[in-house]
Amino acid sequence: MSAPNKSYDPVEVEALKPEEIARMRDEALAAFAAAGDLAALHEAKIAHIGDRSPLALANREIGALPPHAKADAGKRVGGTRAEVGRALATRQEELEAERDARVLVEEAVDVTLPGDRITPGARHPLTTLSERIEDIFVAMGYEVAEGPEVEAEWFNFDALNFTPDHPARAMQDTFFVRSAGAADAAAEGESGVVLRTHTSPVQVRSMLDREPPIYVVCPGRVYRTDELDATHTPVFHQVELLAIDEGLTMADLKGTMDHMVSALFGEGVSTRVRPNYFPFTEPSAEMDMQCYVCRGASVGDPDHPCRTCSSEGWIELGGCGMVNPRVLIACGIDPEKYSGFAFGFGIERMLMFRHNVEDMRDMVEGDVRFTRPFGMEI
Ligand code: DAH
Repeated sequence: MSAPNKSYDPVEVEALKPEEIARMRDEALAAFAAAGDLAALHEAKIAHIGDRSPLALANREIGALPPHAKADAGKRVGGTRAEVGRALATRQEELEAERDARVLVEEAVDVTLPGDRITPGARHPLTTLSERIEDIFVAMGYEVAEGPEVEAEWFNFDALNFTPDHPARAMQDTFFVRSAGAADAAAEGESGVVLRTHTSPVQVRSMLDREPPIYVVCPGRVYRTDELDATHTPVFHQVELLAIDEGLTMADLKGTMDHMVSALFGEGVSTRVRPNYFPFTEPSAEMDMQCYVCRGASVGDPDHPCRTCSSEGWIELGGCGMVNPRVLIACGIDPEKYSGFAFGFGIERMLMFRHNVEDMRDMVEGDVRFTRPFGMEI
């Protein structure tokens, strides 16, 4: 700022010369006109009428002028600032109107466009099939029972009357978490630990937990040391059934299996039993169900072969039998008073022949293209 000067001529102060003020005005107006959007206009505003703009600095010079010169310079600078301010406001309005018009076009919503489709997934058919089987038994008064997948060898084998040297215990079938012979287990006199190889240990747990009569259905995951291929998987599912009551016979077992297969595969589909051996049942049997597709008609009729049962007329389902009295005793149940039946079968296998699934790997890969056709069954 210049020092007060009595003989001062405003025209001599560089910043207050009329042509300087006019130049500042012209530059400001040109900058506003050139600003293409509101952000650029804001920049131009700071540059041309902000606190540090040439016009603001010139305005400050006025204070230093002698009184007689102030009015003249004040009028010129004030008038120019007002004019520049109006030009700014006009340009601001123009740019705002342009922006609003653009937003209307760019952000327009076409309410006639179709919405995004969310494709529904599906529950895994292994889950829905085992729930359907559970429901059949729950409707008959059975209770759903579960047990751990990491199981004591005692529940998985010993209590079920598998002798210590039974081949089913062998390393090539069973995933051992800790073998009974392991130094720490042996020292504590403890059972080994395995990934359960079947759902039958849940029979033992159910008998130890409850007083007869006992009616339980036990679905669950089981493990065996098989390689994954089209017909094997090291992790699969079984459903186990156990009934303990007074006076139960093979006839009750047969009637119960018949009811299950006709509920699952159609009225009139029945079962048959063939002799077999399991350590925990006596007598033991293999259970087959009648082929629900040809119902036996393809047997001996080469002109009408059946893919589902390979024209056998029967489909192998699983194992069954009357609970071995030795198992009842191990579970604290008096075999003189009570008898029981049990059966167990694999869900993957059932899913394969029920829905023509040809490769087991499809069931474990988690591809929605496999699960979706089964639908959203709840
Ligand atoms: N646990 C047997 C297996 O996995 C199947 C089985 C056979 C279950 C006979 C039973 C039964 O309940 O009574 O091979």
